[in-house]
Amino acid sequence: MSNQTLTMIKPDAMKKGYSGGILDMITKGGFRIVALKQTKLTPEKAGEFYEVHKERPFYGELIEYMSSGPIIAAILEKENAVTDFRKLIGATNPANAEEGTIRKQYATSVAENAVHGSDSDDNAKIESDFFFSALERF
Ligand code: CMP
Repeated sequence: MSNQTLTMIKPDAMKKGYSGGILDMITKGGFRIVALKQTKLTPEKAGEFYEVHKERPFYGELIEYMSSGPIIAAILEKENAVTDFRKLIGATNPANAEEGTIRKQYATSVAENAVHGSDSDDNAKIESDFFFSALERF
């Protein structure tokens, strides 16, 4: 089990001014910020990030949404980071997200669900390398 995961605060949450509240929940949840940046994905880069979902019916909508505005990307560190962070963010569909989770508090819908969290240690590494060089990690 690795101790790092990759998160994005997505365009809907950024537009609504929720990034401070989300980062507060992340740090209060015991995660240390290893790397962090504000950036904006082009449709090409969003397509590359979500390539695993290429065959899904929502892929086009996902790419359009994820490139619609700035995001914050961050590498987070904690024991069992991937599993524990997915617990903190809650279910993909905020209607099913438990009380006390980030998506319960800040997400709008299954598409505009405020935050991303890596779903495995392998993907955490791939996704962290997508956004950050070694010089940007502390
Ligand atoms: P994320 O955890 O970033 O991983 C894949 C993303 O696809 C997911 O969050 C949602 O933003 C999006 N997604 C998943 N299911 C659907 C759906 N049924 N319709 C639209 N977008 C979806």
